[in-house]
Amino acid sequence: MSIITKEQITEQKKSNSFAGFIGNQQDAGMIVFALKNLGHLPEDFNAEFLYNLLRHKNSDIRQLAAKNIGKLTENKDAQILFALYGQETDTSVRREIVSAIGRKRDVSNKSILIQILQDNDPKVVCQAVRALLVFVRDKEVIAALKPLINHPNEMVRTVIYKEFFSEKRQHTDRLAHTETFSFLKNAVVNADVLEALKFVPDESVHLTFTSPPYYNARDYSIYQSYHEYLEFLEKVFIETHRITKEGRFLIVNTSPVIVPRISRQHSSKRYPIPFDLHHYIVQNGWEFIDDIVWLKPEASVKNRVGGFMQHRKPLGYKPNAITEYLLVYRKTTDKLLDWNMKNYDAGTIEESKVTGEYESTNVWRIDPCFDKVHSAVFPVELCKRVIQYYSYKGDLVFDPFAGSGTVGRTAKMLERLFFLTEQNTEYFDYMKSKSKPLAAPNAVVSTFLTLKEFKEKANDAD
Ligand SMILES: C[S@@+](CC[C@H](N)C(=O)[O-])C[C@H]1O[C@@H](n2cnc3c(N)ncnc32)[C@H](O)[C@@H]1O
Repeated sequence: MSIITKEQITEQKKSNSFAGFIGNQQDAGMIVFALKNLGHLPEDFNAEFLYNLLRHKNSDIRQLAAKNIGKLTENKDAQILFALYGQETDTSVRREIVSAIGRKRDVSNKSILIQILQDNDPKVVCQAVRALLVFVRDKEVIAALKPLINHPNEMVRTVIYKEFFSEKRQHTDRLAHTETFSFLKNAVVNADVLEALKFVPDESVHLTFTSPPYYNARDYSIYQSYHEYLEFLEKVFIETHRITKEGRFLIVNTSPVIVPRISRQHSSKRYPIPFDLHHYIVQNGWEFIDDIVWLKPEASVKNRVGGFMQHRKPLGYKPNAITEYLLVYRKTTDKLLDWNMKNYDAGTIEESKVTGEYESTNVWRIDPCFDKVHSAVFPVELCKRVIQYYSYKGDLVFDPFAGSGTVGRTAKMLERLFFLTEQNTEYFDYMKSKSKPLAAPNAVVSTFLTLKEFKEKANDAD
């Protein structure tokens, strides 16, 4: 087996004798290497051999041949490509052939591309859509693409929605993207979140970070059933969606909980809250972005593995649960993050930059925090990271389940604004007692309100 070099490839390309050169290669790996390193193809490049390679038994070679055909400027062979596409069984090769047809950017290929929209592979369909969007003003193209809004694949639907339907979206944001309503700024409301949100206008918060009540795991959270619990949280996140600005984030901290057994004759039950809640969130206009794992030291969590340590019997293994999840969602939009960022002035962007050390992975090692009044408070470090990574200075950060108010205090420390709701009066009073006098002369005063007071303020704001 002779080894070929990049220099040889360049040489063969210049002398236009590549076909013979490839023909002499027996080894598929060598052909792949040569095709990968073919680079730019000159106008007079003799590409006949590439079409022959589209019939090669090795699918990597067929795919690379199609990729190189895509670099050729002339369009004479679209029909040949289409015929080969029809015979091709490998979906990656089909995708590359469609891309090659699309790269010609020739309107005479539109009927071929329209036929390809029927392909079973959504990625192939996306390639054809992409190619057709070059002729987006062409009536025939519009008529072929628009019905794909009902395509079974979500990627296809998203592209079509963005191209043809997003103008029709209703914009309910009454304020500039960076602005919010005065009555929400640093307001804490002692009420059921769903009651309080009735008075909050659409598109008024920039970030929501929260840890919902646990399911029956602590005394403040009693629901009739797990289903009722999930449906309650669904309502909260539907409302949160309504009050969130376009393309902004929701971060939900949860973990599976265990409900202890009622007697030794029964088992305890573990509820996978993050995994069940996820479905309720994404079906209501939130797009899943990331899962961050909050990792705690083993010594800080309840010891469940003790029994197993003694008996060592399979099936009786119960690992110590040292993780919680931070599920990151974005309010679904066809706008890119760049759009959100560009709404801020240069000064705010500069001041909000996350300088120095930052967490580069989705595993955040943070010690939990214990509090004498509230049994489930956020560590400040956790809030700090979320607020710094997902908001800009001056943004309004919302926590529907505020507890001791860690999100609010951290937001204030980081020169953001906050809006909190907390149902429990003891925790509400505790938050109030922890509220510090204004640090800066122009800082927004924190207000602690009953539902009635909040409603009046909201009405006054209209
Ligand atoms: C897990 S704790 C949040 C603790 C908070 N992250 C902190 O740092 O202190 C959940 C809180 O939600 C509150 N809560 C439960 N149901 C509520 C509701 N319907 N409306 C408002 N708050 C509620 C509970 O009283 C509890 O304080």
